[in-house]
Amino acid sequence: MTHIGAPATAVSLNHFITPLNTIRMTDFIPPFPIRHKKNLGPLDTLKYARRDLLSIWPESAFDRQFMATKIINKSIFIANHPEIIRYVLLTNHANYEKKSPLMRKALEPLLGDGLFISDGDTWQKHRNLEAPLFGNEQVAKYSDIMIKTTEERAQSWARFKPGETIHVLPEMGQLTAEIICRTLFGNQLGAAQATQVVKSFAEYQAAIEQMDVNTFFGLPSWIPGLGMGKGAKAAKAIHHIVDKVIAEGIKSDNKDSLLGHFLRLHGKKDVQDSLTKQQIRNELIVLFMAGHETTANTLAWAWYLISQCPDVEQRLHDEVDAVLGNRSATFADVAKLTYTRAVIEETMRLYPPVPILSREASADDTIRRRHIPAGSIMLVVPWLLHRHKQYWQQPDHFIPERFLDDAPVKPDKFTYIPFSVGPRVCIAKFFGTVETTLCLAILARQFRLRVPEGHQVTHECRLTLRPKDNLPMQISPR
Ligand code: HEM
Repeated sequence: MTHIGAPATAVSLNHFITPLNTIRMTDFIPPFPIRHKKNLGPLDTLKYARRDLLSIWPESAFDRQFMATKIINKSIFIANHPEIIRYVLLTNHANYEKKSPLMRKALEPLLGDGLFISDGDTWQKHRNLEAPLFGNEQVAKYSDIMIKTTEERAQSWARFKPGETIHVLPEMGQLTAEIICRTLFGNQLGAAQATQVVKSFAEYQAAIEQMDVNTFFGLPSWIPGLGMGKGAKAAKAIHHIVDKVIAEGIKSDNKDSLLGHFLRLHGKKDVQDSLTKQQIRNELIVLFMAGHETTANTLAWAWYLISQCPDVEQRLHDEVDAVLGNRSATFADVAKLTYTRAVIEETMRLYPPVPILSREASADDTIRRRHIPAGSIMLVVPWLLHRHKQYWQQPDHFIPERFLDDAPVKPDKFTYIPFSVGPRVCIAKFFGTVETTLCLAILARQFRLRVPEGHQVTHECRLTLRPKDNLPMQISPR
């Protein structure tokens, strides 16, 4: 990997560092994968990447601003400085709006021209139509679903014996899948169909995760059929259920769900305002896919991190007790749950649910006097950026205080990017933040979780970054 541009130390970057007013005295450093002393060669990169996409980086990658490498004639660049990220994802977004070709190929059978992988006019039209569905007022309405669903989960947790082991990742996965299903479909999707959709999604994901890591690097896949046999079947099953729900939705009157909003766009006279039934289906599936695993992973990591830091846990408990007392949460509480939110933000810094963003350059470009040929892959890697030595103090420590309003400097908009940034920023950034904050507050008011003795928590990284082995933890009421 070549380091491009002046050595990092020659450039003053102090204004990007987030100073801490409270350096917490903690020895706890959450686990992270190996950092190599030297750059890996192309073959070793592929070898490590097949096991884990986060274990390919040398120590120096957490100190560099812009890097380049070449794997089998494919130029790959890594933007690792806030100004370059601003350029790639915002200023010159038009040249880097395309997802990498194999990412598109992997997701197309399921998502068609859905928002996550489309680009150009299709993406712009769908983005314009959907953005109003995720405004503050709408999220305030959906928060009722978030609260009710989390309270139901709390009731089911109350049935566990104190000290019993639960698997936190699937618990959080079921919770967030239920929230997104109810938000999308209202009561239109019965329990049996919801279970089938969740199961088929897991099958689809397992199929694309078997796809080569080449997906990320935009290389040709050497694996015939891309392991998509099962994936194609799962995609068909999901399409079938969602098509049926749409057909039923057209007949019924389910105004408040996202499906209801989409159906109002169906058959509108102005082409710019209308979506076909197939496009509606694709968008619903995108929202389901993008909207449940990211939030589940964040919550699962948060539970783990809190359990390791008694002072953070105490402060979190003090806040939820003071704000909620003995009642459930409301949307208005979110603004008061500042520490809970800081815990979520710090969790996403250390374990960004989408740790690598991968784009294809549409046309030739030049960055830092380096030629970027059309077709090369541009990576923006929250995993590196969020632990970069020049932008963060104690980058590997868990310190929620850096996100509080009284922190001397707020993290920079282009060095902290769990939701990405620019026109393709997560459409549900506010939704996801409100959801994770409410879920954590409601459950932490009532329960405490602990890692069983002898269990070593580690990560797994494919398309998303999650705790490995489903994160077993022992539950007890507070
Ligand atoms: C903690 C929660 C979440 C995180 C960290 C997250 C992160 C992200 C990131 C990083 C992207 C950009 C991906 C890329 O450029 O390759 C993205 C896009 C997207 N996310 Fe989220 N997301 C979260 C929750 C959600 C939820 C709850 C929904 C739906 C309800 C959602 C829907 C989407 C959609 C539709 C896109 C594609 C936007 C576009 O390309 O225009 N996300 N998200």
